[in-house]
Amino acid sequence: MATDILDLVSAYVTLKKKGQNQFGLCPFHNEKSPSFSINQDKQIFHCFGCGAGGNVFTFLMRHEGIGFPEAVKLLAGRANIDLEWEERDEGQAKQNEALYHICEFAMDWFQQNLFASTGEEALKYFQSRGLSVENMKAFGLGYATHDWDGLIQQAGKTANDVDTLVAAGLALQKEGGKCYDRFRERIMFPIKNLSGRVVAFGGRVMKEQPKSPKYINSPETPVYEKSKILYGLFQNRDDIRRQDKAIFVEGYMDLLSLLANGIGNVVATSGTALTQEQAALIRRYTRHVVLMYDSDTAGAAASIRGADVLVENDVEVYIATLPDGHDPDSFVREFGQEKLLDRVSNAKHLFDYKLTLLLQIAPEKREEGVQSLLASVARVKDRIQRSMVVSDIAERLHVNEKDLWAELQKVLQQQARKDARLAGMSTAPKPGKQTKSEKAVDDLVRILLHDWSTSELIFDHFDLKVGEGHYLLPVLDFHKNQQRGGRQPTQIEIVQRFNDVRISEFIVQELARERPDLDAEKWAEDCILTIRKEQLQQEIAAVREQLKACGGEADVRRSLLSRCMALENEKSTLSLSLNKAT
Ligand code: GTP
Ligand code: MN
Repeated sequence: MATDILDLVSAYVTLKKKGQNQFGLCPFHNEKSPSFSINQDKQIFHCFGCGAGGNVFTFLMRHEGIGFPEAVKLLAGRANIDLEWEERDEGQAKQNEALYHICEFAMDWFQQNLFASTGEEALKYFQSRGLSVENMKAFGLGYATHDWDGLIQQAGKTANDVDTLVAAGLALQKEGGKCYDRFRERIMFPIKNLSGRVVAFGGRVMKEQPKSPKYINSPETPVYEKSKILYGLFQNRDDIRRQDKAIFVEGYMDLLSLLANGIGNVVATSGTALTQEQAALIRRYTRHVVLMYDSDTAGAAASIRGADVLVENDVEVYIATLPDGHDPDSFVREFGQEKLLDRVSNAKHLFDYKLTLLLQIAPEKREEGVQSLLASVARVKDRIQRSMVVSDIAERLHVNEKDLWAELQKVLQQQARKDARLAGMSTAPKPGKQTKSEKAVDDLVRILLHDWSTSELIFDHFDLKVGEGHYLLPVLDFHKNQQRGGRQPTQIEIVQRFNDVRISEFIVQELARERPDLDAEKWAEDCILTIRKEQLQQEIAAVREQLKACGGEADVRRSLLSRCMALENEKSTLSLSLNKAT
């Protein structure tokens, strides 16, 4: 295979070697300690926490929410392989592909405008804010012209349809059905996901006017979930990893301005409250975050609100302050890189920051501040760290440590109740209930993976048709063919063969597990009997239905009755017949 799984995955996950495997934080669930592993020999990934697992293809399919053909194409692109691939209709994956494509197209067009005569004013604007052409290109900045349908016209020339523009949030449809561009006469900031694909835009007016908002942003689409994106993370993640620190700012312009001043480990939260997903996202690259928001009270409030989510995700949060009236952009432009970096390195630890604020308030009015402080402390998962913080706070506030602990206990209980409520509301799909025989088909695959010596027994007695519709049937089919050819497939062959995410996951989970301590032959027999029994049960039920419906026709009744008896008989002698045959 052209793409090594380690190369691919390390673009998304920070990995560390431990024994034979590489470990990192799982990109598929929220975790604090690494349980996601890569085995380079086998070319597989597996998470011991959430059970995700598979090969290079299924990694991409899950990570990008795309189908197998798209994953193949992406990997071929990475490995510079030309593929002739026929488009298959894959529903959502295909629509996503169209959305990515149209966003990319729009970015290209906005960029062209910026560097053409029509974008002269926009280019000047960016320059007036200190950005170089190189900065603009690195972030794909552009300009949407004032025409009401400029992008629509342009897209039409290359046979892109308006529906896709509307679906991507780039065009709006009026009541009469007529469409117009969402972004007009604005400088454009493309927003990329972690694969570097453009999924949305922010657009800013060049001259602030009372009647139109300073920024407008793309709405959410199937490829753009605001809560899961941090602006600039794709471009800046290597820098963040290298420096093991991320500076969080509010605005697109703050980020770009720091970049223009040689500070690249920055992401922007785009003026919204931080989400769990964003906190988990940054935690994959570093556990040190410096919040550097505007100096106004709204900025300070926003930092504090965002901080707890980060603490909860095992991130150490520091708060950098700026002189009154400044934001990171204005500060760095007035005082320069060095002074800004001073502010970053002098940033106060969140607890320290809250404590300092608290000490400025008269003791009798501190109640609210203490609550806010304890709320952050309660989010610290590490008990030792937590108790150190509590001692420290007690000392500096001159309060009894025991009282503080009692207060903290209350907050912890409140939070536990709130978390439980949230968990109850979770909409995550629950694993569907399996019938006994569906579970038995799972088990047959399990047994084969662990004990090939059962293959003869299984394929002599198990009719694949019986398992029709079961998602693991292709695995059984593959094993059956191998068995006919008298060859045991290797683990790598099995893993690499199946690119259905569910199958892939099942296999990898199984291979990661210890060999079950059971008599494999006996277990296999039980499974086959269970499946056959359930099948007979269904047939019997069907015949009984027919009997009820057939009325008085004696001939029909007789034949149905004898069929029913034959089936009942087979069912009761089932185990015997199998034992005899083996
Ligand atoms: P400049 O004003 O050019 O310095 O932009 P900025 O990026 O620094 O923006 P600012 O600090 O005013 O706001 C922070 C972020 O909030 C922006 O980058 C936008 O993402 C968002 N934002 C600001 N104003 C608006 C608005 O009017 N509408 C929307 N939807 N978002 C806004
Ligand atoms: Mn600003």
